Amino acid sequence: MDPRRWRLDGQLALVTGGSAGIGRAIARELLGFGADVLLAARDATALDSARDELLEDFPEREIACFAADVAVEEQRRELLDWVEDFGDGLHILVNNAGGNLGKPATEYADDEWRGIFEINLFSAFELSRYLHPLLARHGAASIVNVGSVSGLTHVRTGVAYGMSKAGLHQMTKNLAVEWAEDGIRVNAVAPWYIRTRRTSDKLADPDYLDDVLLRTPLGRIGEPEEVAAAVAFLCLPAAGYVTGECIAVDGGFLRYGF
Ligand SMILES: NC(=O)c1ccc[n+]([C@@H]2O[C@H](COP(=O)([O-])OP(=O)(O)OC[C@H]3O[C@@H](n4cnc5c(N)ncnc54)[C@H](OP(=O)(O)O)[C@@H]3O)[C@@H](O)[C@H]2O)c1
Repeated sequence: MDPRRWRLDGQLALVTGGSAGIGRAIARELLGFGADVLLAARDATALDSARDELLEDFPEREIACFAADVAVEEQRRELLDWVEDFGDGLHILVNNAGGNLGKPATEYADDEWRGIFEINLFSAFELSRYLHPLLARHGAASIVNVGSVSGLTHVRTGVAYGMSKAGLHQMTKNLAVEWAEDGIRVNAVAPWYIRTRRTSDKLADPDYLDDVLLRTPLGRIGEPEEVAAAVAFLCLPAAGYVTGECIAVDGGFLRYGF
């Protein structure tokens, strides 16, 4: 076995939403495999503290951050310019930033449901397209999209979130085929409930938590590190023949009928 197949040494990764939750765990996991990481999120202070925390564990590694709202076209362009300045292209793009506003379908204002698409789907599509030349430069690059089980079946998130994540999963399949010849593999993960600040309010309700656990064969909530492990696998040379795939990180949720 060639151990380099399980390493990311010398690779540069951009993780959107890298200051907290799943994104920060992904950054840490990629660093653990040897990559350098660039983090993007809106709140500069949170980004700085995430970078400082990661640097404590990986002092020899390049860890840089850029404050940008990836739902805003102009800021996506600024992020692209910043990544370009690193000079040697990009090996890994993790489209992780996402958000939701759960409501009954008829109660969404236009800008509310369109905003959910902007952050969950359009940001990932535009960043993937803009960064394509940097990713294609190395002949072996990887995009991982953080989707959701809500893009694969009904869950109680509201329809806009489900539609946007379903679009992200389909985008994964289309780009995987279109960009295979450019050496860019495109995959996704689909988490079920993961313990982050986004889910903490809902999971603090014991009745709701019971409902969630009843639908989860493994009988517990997932941890950000468990999503990060699947993302890292998809980025590794060891996964070099895997593209267009989606790994559910869901404690068996999607396989559970009745
Ligand atoms: N947690 C779950 O149970 C779960 C389940 C399925 C899928 N997911 C998906 O996993 C991803 C991460 O979720 P999480 O639970 O880790 O959330 P989180 O803990 O709230 O972290 C979200 C991260 O994204 C950043 N972010 C949010 N909106 C952004 C924007 N417009 N532009 C740039 N950065 C932005 C946040 O920083 P700022 O706020 O400073 O921008 C933060 O770094 C999302 O795509 C979510 O849909 C989560």
